[in-house]
Amino acid sequence: MRIYLASPLGFSEAGRAFNAGTLIPLIERLGHEVLDPWQLTDPASIESIRQMPFGADRKEAFRKLNAEIGRANAQAIDRCDAVLAVLDGVDVDSGTAAEIGYACAKGKPVVGYRGDFRLSADNEGAIVNLQVEYFIRASGGIIVEALADIGGALESLRRSEPPRRQDSREKRGGIERREHPQPINLEMNPYSSIIITGGNGMLAHAFVRNLAARGLRAVTLDRTACDIASESDVRRLFAGHRPTLLLNCAAHTKVDLCEEQQELADAINGQGVGHLARLAKEHGTFLVQFSTDFVFDGSGTRPYRTDDPVRPLSAYGRSKLLGEQQLQANAPAKWIIARTAWLYGRNGPCFPRTMIERGKAGSPLRVVNDQIGSPTYTEDLAAATLDLIDRDATGIWHLTNTGSVSWYEFARAALEEFGVSADLGPTTTADWQKLRPKSAIRPAYSVLDVEPFARKTGRAMRPWREALRDYYAAVARDGFA
Ligand SMILES: NC(=O)c1ccc[n+]([C@@H]2O[C@H](COP(=O)([O-])OP(=O)(O)OC[C@H]3O[C@@H](n4cnc5c(N)ncnc54)[C@H](OP(=O)(O)O)[C@@H]3O)[C@@H](O)[C@H]2O)c1
Repeated sequence: MRIYLASPLGFSEAGRAFNAGTLIPLIERLGHEVLDPWQLTDPASIESIRQMPFGADRKEAFRKLNAEIGRANAQAIDRCDAVLAVLDGVDVDSGTAAEIGYACAKGKPVVGYRGDFRLSADNEGAIVNLQVEYFIRASGGIIVEALADIGGALESLRRSEPPRRQDSREKRGGIERREHPQPINLEMNPYSSIIITGGNGMLAHAFVRNLAARGLRAVTLDRTACDIASESDVRRLFAGHRPTLLLNCAAHTKVDLCEEQQELADAINGQGVGHLARLAKEHGTFLVQFSTDFVFDGSGTRPYRTDDPVRPLSAYGRSKLLGEQQLQANAPAKWIIARTAWLYGRNGPCFPRTMIERGKAGSPLRVVNDQIGSPTYTEDLAAATLDLIDRDATGIWHLTNTGSVSWYEFARAALEEFGVSADLGPTTTADWQKLRPKSAIRPAYSVLDVEPFARKTGRAMRPWREALRDYYAAVARDGFA
């Protein structure tokens, strides 16, 4: 791509050295061509005007020079594929704001790099910075804080291909007519400001890794930073972070405990989602909610479709269904409910990890063999969700790894994959229920139909066994987290 470098750093020697020594080589290393407007400007002519005595002539000379620079910059911006704007800097002034404003109005993708220069961050500079940030966000650009994130951000802008503005000039009967300039595209790039609630959970960690691999960064908020059951916490979150995308990974996920804590489960998994939905609607935020196969009663004989009737058997399932209903009743402009199942990942306790640890400890393992579902790797769920967001999907989606097994078969596969020999044997739901009468009732069959995802994205979810192999590889490399 041809990258226009809107860097006010050219005003100072140190800044010019930074441009020439760091920024420009970085962009070139990423395989892009740099259009550096400072190379279009003759420093000697600026200096000679600076030396002129104050007065009308000096003012006029500056006016002419600025007009020339403005024209040259506009031509360069017209030729570029994307703009890299340096913010928070020494001299972000109205000239920089004009360059970025022009680029945004022309529909050029913009990455703002908020470096850590702060040499003369006076009040006016701070205000212009805010203006520039607003232009960038409003036109669907991305703001990054680290040099290392610039490449990923440029790539993701290239992938999301924001709409190009047409030239506002139009020839009509030989007369050049100037149309009203097109308004800046206020439709936000969903990745401009990403918040993950339930930030300590298993899925949240997978999102952080998946986003980082795309050069994107999210702010994760754990329960202490934002309790989604508290409306005032949720209000504060939106006021403070103004998210363009909220991935709600917060939930009361202890299925058996929910039987004794139905009210709390409803407050978090149900009303909590309602709070998020209302605020997301107010702020134009893309809201993603995760739901569960446990909204179904398990009497089905083929994979459940998204519009199949729901009938949860457990307090957890009811609370998650309440969440779905709350979201749809207060639906923001863009939302996804991703129903998933039998989730496991590197972070936090999960079924295969429990089997492996107990197996290694020599505990006998008796696992039900008459409940059938699809084990799902958190990394695959996170990647699939981002693929849907990329395609502007909305509504309810089923996202699991493909294929189906019983819990017993899943335990056997996990032990096999991790090379653990354990005393593993099958049992039935009825026998398990006798041992633990307070445990929640789970659906006997809860395989979800993931075909719509494949049709939407052009790629199928992976088979569960393949994903389990990757899970083993990740744990072998990095350990359980
Ligand atoms: N795990 C599964 O098998 C499975 C299956 C189907 C669907 N899902 C859904 O997938 C999503 C992600 O699940 P997961 O496995 O990643 O769950 P997880 O590891 O249990 O993470 C959930 C996180 O939410 C936090 N949390 C609980 N109450 C909260 C509140 N009131 N406000 C803010 N945060 C709160 C928890 O924090 P604390 O640790 O402090 O409580 C925890 O860090 C959930 O919506 C879940 O219902 C999971």
